[in-house]
Amino acid sequence: MNVVFLACGYPPEMQQYTRGLAEVGASVYGVGDAPRERLAPSFKQYLTDYLQVPKLLDEDDVVARVAAWMRGRAVDRIEANWEVMVMTAARLREALGIPGMSVDVVRGFRDKQIMKERAIAAGLRVPRSARARSAAEAHAAAAKLGYPLVLKPISGAGSADTYEVGSERELDQTLARTQHVRELSIEEFIDGEEFTFDCVCIDGKPAFMNVAQYLPKPLIARTNEWISPVITTVRELRQPAVADGIKLGYGVLSALGMGTGFTHMEWFRKPSGEVVFGEIGCRPGGAHLVDQMNYTCDIDLFREWARAVCWHSFEASTVRKYNTSIIFKRARGQGRITKIVGLREFMRKYGEFVMEEKLLPLGSQRRNWKQTLLSDGFIILRHPDWRIANQLADIAANEITMYAE
Ligand SMILES: Nc1ncnc2c1ncn2[C@@H]1O[C@H](COP(=O)(O)OP(=O)(O)OP(=O)(O)O)[C@@H](O)[C@H]1O
Ligand SMILES: [Mg+2]
Repeated sequence: MNVVFLACGYPPEMQQYTRGLAEVGASVYGVGDAPRERLAPSFKQYLTDYLQVPKLLDEDDVVARVAAWMRGRAVDRIEANWEVMVMTAARLREALGIPGMSVDVVRGFRDKQIMKERAIAAGLRVPRSARARSAAEAHAAAAKLGYPLVLKPISGAGSADTYEVGSERELDQTLARTQHVRELSIEEFIDGEEFTFDCVCIDGKPAFMNVAQYLPKPLIARTNEWISPVITTVRELRQPAVADGIKLGYGVLSALGMGTGFTHMEWFRKPSGEVVFGEIGCRPGGAHLVDQMNYTCDIDLFREWARAVCWHSFEASTVRKYNTSIIFKRARGQGRITKIVGLREFMRKYGEFVMEEKLLPLGSQRRNWKQTLLSDGFIILRHPDWRIANQLADIAANEITMYAE
């Protein structure tokens, strides 16, 4: 089983998927932009061979180089788990005639307008929306959809350049701020709670699934620095509150023609109980969501994803034992971390529930919270009881404070 894995070393968790592939018996042909000499030996041991490319995001160039590199060798799979590489993987599969999701299928997961159109065609509830390539098209869309609206890039990530727009004046202001975005998606604003639906699929069927709740919604968390965003996996998936979201998720997977691999979907539940599709990617969620799912069931999804991709099987337990919360912290002030208040007390009282405490140590430079949800570090904790898990997350969010100068 020869697997070409694009972006095998970055973002850092990709090294875990590389390990998973090796552990299920694949020979891993890794592709990355880091020089071979710089790969850590603990990671390099999982690679059969490595190709350094000058620019991972130059699709044409990567396709040409990998095709040349693999000439004369048998390739069974070409995979990528980083959003910006999934289309490159699809193009390579088509170029080399390797099984897996086609360019057309992957387009449905990358282009937010096509994604919504395919979901609508399957009769699913999706925010009303339009594509806009100019201010005139944006105004026409707003006139049709009405306010409030959400304006976001057609192929965005990390809530970048995403805005809630309440009026025509705000629309003009927002268009001025997003001039660098080539194509916008303009959507009906959905008021409600926001959840994920995550799967490892085999031929489009979930072998593993997960739901997590965002507290608060990402758009609010990503525009207010003082907030400590929390994401909690839902242990009990059979409750009515999430059942409709899971049903919607199954519908989306089939509408988009999902194949084998990870999916990460977002959906809303309105106060009325109605569930509405948000977006979906054919790759795992970032920001340690896979670690959270692993802690939820005490399993290793890095390896199980690899097993699904290589052998179309999934062997881990899907019994959900915990609700697992991640709490992202953002320091007050700029510069270097000087003080962390409340952490010792928190660990003394609740340390038995804490799986990881990865707050930036004193002296480290603050991260750019706009660029990475990881912000100035995080705590992962878990508890079998939903209410208690969220109470603990709340305490970590409110009673641990980091300072920077
Ligand atoms: N139609 C909508 N109604 C209400 N809120 C929305 C809508 N579309 C997006 N949002 C908010 O903006 C956030 C970012 O939008 P979306 O998930 O589409 O973009 P993204 O940049 O790909 O996100 P991610 O952070 O998952 O990479 C959503 O999580 C949600 O909170
Ligand atoms: Mg999103």
